[in-house]
Amino acid sequence: MLSKSLLLFLAVYILSDFSYGQKDKKFFRKDYTYIESVQSFYKIHSVARTWNEAKRMCAQEGAMLYYAENVEEREAVASFWNRTQPLMPWVFVGLTDQMAEGIFKTVDGKSISEVYSRWQRFQPDNHQGNEDCVHMDLIGTMNDYRCDSNAKFICKKTLESLEWDYNCNMPNSNYIYNQDIGKCYKLHTTPMNWADAYTMCQIELTSLAVVNNRMEADYLVKLTETIPEPLVAKQYQQGIYHVGFHNRFQEGWQTAEGTKMNVDADLWFNNKLPQNHYAECGSMFFNGRLVSSSCNMESFFICEQQAIPTNNTSTTEENEENFMQL
Ligand SMILES: *[C@@H]1O[C@H](CO)[C@@H](O)[C@H](O)[C@H]1NC(C)=O
Ligand SMILES: *[C@@H]1O[C@H](CO)[C@@H](O)[C@H](O)[C@H]1NC(C)=O
Ligand SMILES: *[C@@H]1O[C@H](CO)[C@@H](O)[C@H](O)[C@H]1NC(C)=O
Repeated sequence: MLSKSLLLFLAVYILSDFSYGQKDKKFFRKDYTYIESVQSFYKIHSVARTWNEAKRMCAQEGAMLYYAENVEEREAVASFWNRTQPLMPWVFVGLTDQMAEGIFKTVDGKSISEVYSRWQRFQPDNHQGNEDCVHMDLIGTMNDYRCDSNAKFICKKTLESLEWDYNCNMPNSNYIYNQDIGKCYKLHTTPMNWADAYTMCQIELTSLAVVNNRMEADYLVKLTETIPEPLVAKQYQQGIYHVGFHNRFQEGWQTAEGTKMNVDADLWFNNKLPQNHYAECGSMFFNGRLVSSSCNMESFFICEQQAIPTNNTSTTEENEENFMQL
């Protein structure tokens, strides 16, 4: 017979929500792997970057440049690393003394004394006065290194910090849900050229918005009016947002996914298909009309995610599959 305390433990265990709002689901993004023992998600980036780029790329994915909180995490991640990328000699970790020489801090502002650290012999040495970022190898020893060198890196997201946007069916990343259209949108106000904008949406596991009809265009116009005019330091093309269509292959205007653009005629600026061979990328004027723009032009852009009609709890598994299929 089960003892009373064991029963009590089981009851508490079953009734507790250990998933921080994601009922029964420990899922962040399809490109991240969950490690149960440390309740966090990880992704190894096997294209080498500078330390600052690595930090930014993790943030763009809604995560953080990995450093080990403690020995347990160091070992759990090393085992994942050894299993998936055994030949990767070292990675940049989220520790730096760029702000004040000799005072190493984590990317989220903790002192190095609060987290795992084990330096190689005679390290850190700030060699040639130019080593402010930290490498770690598979066995967990650390070395200070040039921040502008390139190294592979690992991004991390704790389960605890994960918020799930049930309407948009994605980790919360400030997408705005529109129930009538059944989509979620995010306005990006860091100007980028069309290809980089396309990539930025991909990084968020979404796509450049495809404007299908008048209702959607009108909504996006309203949405653009709600955001404060951001302060932008560089030159960029004002008055348009890059959206998800193009004619880059001279095959006719198509969506970023490769289907033919099939929109109401009056959605096009001046009621006609753009015909400028120097402008093969798709944009939307602030008034909601579609127009072609030069692919090199930097402007704001809009990403979208198809929302999945859902009742939150009962269908999370289905949703997860859907998200993973993207
Ligand atoms: C990595 O995995 C190999 C094969 O399983 C094992 O022999 C080796 O000791 C592991 N290395 C580390 C540092 O854990
Ligand atoms: C889901 O929500 C809709 C309304 O949003 C409701 O009509 C339906 O009964 C709900 N289904 C379940 C299984 O709760
Ligand atoms: C899902 O649940 C969240 C909070 O649990 C709630 O804010 C949201 O409106 C719900 N969405 C739907 C479609 O029921």
